[in-house]
Amino acid sequence: MSVKSKAAVAFEPGKPLEIVEIDVQEPKEHEVMVKIDFTSVCHTDVYTLSGNDPSGIFPCVLGHEATGTVVQIGEGVTNVEVGDKVVPLWKPECGECEYCKRGLNFCSAISDTQGKGVMPDGTPRFSYKGEPIYHFMGTSTFSEYTVLADISVAKIPEGAEMDKVALLGCGVTTGLGAVKNDAEFKSGSTAAVFGIGTLGLAAIQMLKELGASRIIAVDINNEKEKLAKEFGATEFINSDEIDPPIQEYIVEMTDGGVDYSFVCVGHTETMNAGLECTHKGWGLSIIMGVASGQDKISTRPFHLITGRTWKGSSFGGVTGRTGLPKIIKAHMAGEIDLDPFITHRMTIDKINEAIELQEDGQSLRDIITFE
Ligand code: CU
Repeated sequence: MSVKSKAAVAFEPGKPLEIVEIDVQEPKEHEVMVKIDFTSVCHTDVYTLSGNDPSGIFPCVLGHEATGTVVQIGEGVTNVEVGDKVVPLWKPECGECEYCKRGLNFCSAISDTQGKGVMPDGTPRFSYKGEPIYHFMGTSTFSEYTVLADISVAKIPEGAEMDKVALLGCGVTTGLGAVKNDAEFKSGSTAAVFGIGTLGLAAIQMLKELGASRIIAVDINNEKEKLAKEFGATEFINSDEIDPPIQEYIVEMTDGGVDYSFVCVGHTETMNAGLECTHKGWGLSIIMGVASGQDKISTRPFHLITGRTWKGSSFGGVTGRTGLPKIIKAHMAGEIDLDPFITHRMTIDKINEAIELQEDGQSLRDIITFE
């Protein structure tokens, strides 16, 4: 048994997605079929499509930020029912592996098959003209119907705005969580944020919420200044327009360095600057940007020995099935504003436009529907 589904398929790296009708097989044991209501393009989709990510498997259905409705469940599924509203999780949560037991969001239960673009039984559920189409990040939300492992869906609390909550599936949660969970940011402290896209702006929103005394936004595009300040940045620096290296500039203007820095770009030199612009003794720098290939970060050990800490953050330290519903509730309570992240709304037929806008940094998020 299978259903017909409108999907944007990435047939080859570097080529636009093609809107075609694919076949989606019904869910097997411990799998669920979800009808995607809203999805958006995130940097990782663009990066994988570009072909720069060697782990990208083609042809595939990209997409990993979304909300949807469970329409069918396989045998043994107990955590959701047909009709439940869910956020697909590119970071599953089995609750039983070594990572889950420690409360960390690095669940290993299905990581092998997820990385190969197939379901836990080793096969994909998608096909086009009889040929297999592979999954992406265990979610593949650029298809009206998709199949996920049951541990890869988080239930959405009753009454949530499904379109906006879709944005909590990756980027916004990462930025908010890096500040709150990974940095455990202390009120009254100072911060620098490198890279003013969705991650950086979400970080700024949380910094403001937690009472940062200074929020220094850094980008190489002056058009980002207005946006950064609307979200709560107190200062903006174009790192291309200053003379000294950005870390020296920030150390100078903050009398020794910022208390925290958040790096939301994939350049390792910026990551190095992120550490080096923090204060001796207690500075903490968090890396959220994903660097390409074999690039390495580097700094003088002196910077660490003198009390700075270098840390990475993935999905803001938020666990999917247990932690994400709490973030959704915080949004519902008015603590997280998702409206300013929505740049456009469009249908799936325009998805290549959304990809270009994301690639060029012209959209924060475009909300995509299937009809
Ligand atoms: Cu993402």
